[in-house]
Amino acid sequence: MTRLDSDRLVRALQGAYNQGKRRKDLLQLTATRMRAAGSPYTGVYLYMLHDYDLLLEAFDGRATEHTKIPVGKGICGRAVAERRDINAADVAAEPDYLACSVETRSELVVLIRRGEEILGQIDIDSDVVNGFDESESKAVKEVADALAALL
Ligand code: SME
Repeated sequence: MTRLDSDRLVRALQGAYNQGKRRKDLLQLTATRMRAAGSPYTGVYLYMLHDYDLLLEAFDGRATEHTKIPVGKGICGRAVAERRDINAADVAAEPDYLACSVETRSELVVLIRRGEEILGQIDIDSDVVNGFDESESKAVKEVADALAALL
């Protein structure tokens, strides 16, 4: 069992879309609902790609000073540069890690992709080491894929 009920969140996103909600609300709904799943979801950040920068468009959890991250910088920027999801099981082992909180121990970045295009990413901080196993990551990916279709 995953902590995140991705089917339920995808249905909520589709419902919100059908009620006329768009980008900002859908990103905020994602952040809020995902973090509500509890540990390992300590902070959820929706960074969207604008040319060569990731801009923070919605979040739930601790505020971060990293509201604009260039492609290639930090774990978030590296995920875009390398066009892949990154599961950093121990952020202390990542030389390019940009700290948002000293409490953070692990981080999962899942890209929001529409075909070949990278729209942005779901970035999740956890206060536990190795917070996200394969099934939890898959649940986040299902939400990212749903967002890609609705944004
Ligand atoms: N840790 C990220 C920066 C984003 S904050 O954690 C919300 C990184 O290394 O890119």
